[in-house]
Amino acid sequence: MSEIKVKKIRRLDARIRVPGDKSISHRAVMLGGLARGTCKITGFLPSEDCLCSMRAMQALGAKIEQITDSHLEITGVSGECRQVLETIDCGNSGTSMRLLAGILAAQPFTSRLSGDSSLTSRPMRRVMIPLMQMGAFIESEMKNERAPLRINGGRLHGINYKMPVASAQVKSCILLAGMFAEGTTSVTEPMSSRDHTERMLRHFLVPSRADSLQKSLDGKDIPIKGGVPLTTVVHGGSIPEARDFRVPGDFSSAAFWLVAASAFQGSQLSIEDVGLNKTRTGLLSVLMRMGAQIREYVETGNDTEPHGNLEITGRGLHATTVDGDIIPNVIDEIPAIAVLAALAEGETIIKDAGELRVKESDRIASITKNLRAFGVPVEEAEDGMIIQGGKALKGTTVDCFGDHRIAMAFSILGLFAEGETRILNTECIRTSYPGFEKQLEAIMS
Ligand code: S3P
Repeated sequence: MSEIKVKKIRRLDARIRVPGDKSISHRAVMLGGLARGTCKITGFLPSEDCLCSMRAMQALGAKIEQITDSHLEITGVSGECRQVLETIDCGNSGTSMRLLAGILAAQPFTSRLSGDSSLTSRPMRRVMIPLMQMGAFIESEMKNERAPLRINGGRLHGINYKMPVASAQVKSCILLAGMFAEGTTSVTEPMSSRDHTERMLRHFLVPSRADSLQKSLDGKDIPIKGGVPLTTVVHGGSIPEARDFRVPGDFSSAAFWLVAASAFQGSQLSIEDVGLNKTRTGLLSVLMRMGAQIREYVETGNDTEPHGNLEITGRGLHATTVDGDIIPNVIDEIPAIAVLAALAEGETIIKDAGELRVKESDRIASITKNLRAFGVPVEEAEDGMIIQGGKALKGTTVDCFGDHRIAMAFSILGLFAEGETRILNTECIRTSYPGFEKQLEAIMS
């Protein structure tokens, strides 16, 4: 069992890079694996979660050579996967399971998907319903709408699906299934979640379109929020064409350093070559609202995913409210935002974030418990929390409930606490950020 020990530091001056983006790496290995031809993926994140997706695509017939940990050469199956008789193990990865479910629903064979104890307790009904509407048959073995899932795939037909919750995993699952289906498939979201699948489909030349649909299927107007298209359409019967792809650094990994540097007065931090897709960088607006000083240099060019550098100067921060449309764009950063709230003067309110209850852990419960251990007053709500920031923090020992983002967020809080902080059972960090502990060591020395 590994643990992280953290001690208080005074400021954070560094120039860092973070490993490749997890969400984008999953999609790159899946589309590359399904494509016609050979492509190179560079900047791939060799974390446990993405390796689950890579192994699944290999089992389905893609030839994948790992030239280095983060450089893959993939020869795809030209849209025709071979049957995998054994269970496909998705480990801790919700993205692997939900996106692979979309691919497997369209294959003319039966597959079985499972994962670890966290993944098999997460809701899968959200992908089972639309895939069954498209013509697949999916069974939850325990009859609890959780994995293990048995998927009897086959010929699918396109649907127009209105998603009840904003979820990039559900949207991507349907779009991947739609790529194989007869006719067109459209997915409409209530708020815009990360759009990596849409960008990746265009990159791999799959006919698809992002629309600002004005009317819902029952004829009612759908408000267009933030000017971002909320409906995506994919044309069925398409095979992705192999094209090289470079994955930028993961903004969600950078988030931990961004939070630390913003809260230490006088710190100077540069983060190089990180993904700056607007559907992911809501944390930058939250930080700026709290008084942080951040400069964003987006590289111009035709890259599929926006990326560039960030420069942060540490300042005193004040509380804010995080709610509404921004939630899908900060969903993975809420553990880091909660830490930030503990360091900012005043009362920070986080709401409309009920989805946190069904992540790798119940993140509302995990955050609340750990903040209290550090001496931070916090009130738990069904869909968020209220945090009283700016109080003195005492070093403590906390668990991370098998959740990588909880482990990293509270390691950062330990940098601000008197005495020693211990985070227990931190092996889960390998699911998303191999090398985090080393970077933390370097920052503390
Ligand atoms: C992800 C989507 C989000 C996010 C997860 C990765 C993705 O989940 O929390 O870490 O890669 O599509 P939901 O789709 O459940 O919101």
